[in-house]
Amino acid sequence: MNDHHPGTGGGLPPIRAALEAIESSRIREVSDIGMAMAGVTPLWFGESDIATPDFVRAAAAASLAGGETFYSSNAGIVELRRALARYESGLRGREIGAERIVVTTSGMTAIMLAMETFVEAGDNAIVHTPIWPNCIQTVRIMGAEARLIELRHGPDGWTLDLDALFAMTDERTRAIFVNSPSNPTGWTMSAEDQMRLLAFARSRGIWIIADEVYTRIAYEAERAPSFLDVAKPDDPLVVVNSFSKNWCMTGWRLGWMVAPAALVPTITKLVEFNFSCAPVFVQRAGVAALEQGEGFVAETQALYRRNRDMVYQRLAAIDGVRMANPPGAFYAFIGVDGMDDSLAVAKRILMERKVGLAPGSAFGPGGEGHLRLCFAVQSDKLSSALDRLAASLEAGVA
Ligand SMILES: Cc1ncc(COP(=O)(O)O)c(C=O)c1O
Repeated sequence: MNDHHPGTGGGLPPIRAALEAIESSRIREVSDIGMAMAGVTPLWFGESDIATPDFVRAAAAASLAGGETFYSSNAGIVELRRALARYESGLRGREIGAERIVVTTSGMTAIMLAMETFVEAGDNAIVHTPIWPNCIQTVRIMGAEARLIELRHGPDGWTLDLDALFAMTDERTRAIFVNSPSNPTGWTMSAEDQMRLLAFARSRGIWIIADEVYTRIAYEAERAPSFLDVAKPDDPLVVVNSFSKNWCMTGWRLGWMVAPAALVPTITKLVEFNFSCAPVFVQRAGVAALEQGEGFVAETQALYRRNRDMVYQRLAAIDGVRMANPPGAFYAFIGVDGMDDSLAVAKRILMERKVGLAPGSAFGPGGEGHLRLCFAVQSDKLSSALDRLAASLEAGVA
């Protein structure tokens, strides 16, 4: 079997055939245009416009001033792993030890490490859609098949049919990827469904990769249900998390994984061959975020809640617009009747109204027909962007 392909053209040697199927991000297709324009309100990426809090920046600066510029341990500095263990244990109300934690250079790298650990050519992983495209493409990068199951959309929001998901698995299913609360829909898995899925995964010997980067951005409870609330320490579960969203640290590239202790040496080995270690000064910033950041997290949660309600009030009543108020994360996933080219519409809204949105088609099956708006920004900026967007939607942008 030939698993290489002359895909690059231009007389260059072959590259891996699996990479042929990898699309570049359609979110970037819109943002690349908008970033070169003046006066645009960018709501296309999953990030706040609030800069990282001062106490976090100060911790990094102090580390750099102190000369912490060297390589460090693969799994993360012990201070951060312990701080994460305390943080997770406090949040979940049960003991989660530092020996179960691996520090990564972002949630993104944690997802990639999980895929490197579980899937290869011939295997498959189940992924629900619409979803952040990176969750699908990492499966494909490994040469494995991403089996996609669409969430259903009803008047009360999005739901996942677990029985249909179970029916899609076979003997080559190595992982089930669950992003809850979800980007872009805000769909949030209930604790009951998490228990059902865990029981299934245990009985079938399939890993669950739980992407919980939005676990603290929840509107119907203080935080979203976590697999860590219901799983045993040696369940086939890895939980991916990140400093990006809770502490406004997207540019720092810092995340972590919680895994069964027996899996940690394998993941740690892979860390060596991917990025070797997260920068120490960034990890010191992570410790400060965990230890001093609760007030900041509460403030931003309150801002996101107000903004969520503002988006809903302003857009949901517009003729031809379908949206449920999301239970989690910080996106509105706006359904527009009759729209079958969300990329073209997102570009038009950008050019005509200077509002930067992500096209729903970027998020896989079930995504077309929608536009994603990140509402994690200052309310006045959001409000003015909503005025302009509403004008487009009322005029029948599709
Ligand atoms: C669902 C999901 N998982 C993971 C991430 C990764 O975040 P980061 O790589 O910044 O830690 C994101 C970022 O948008 C996301 O939306």
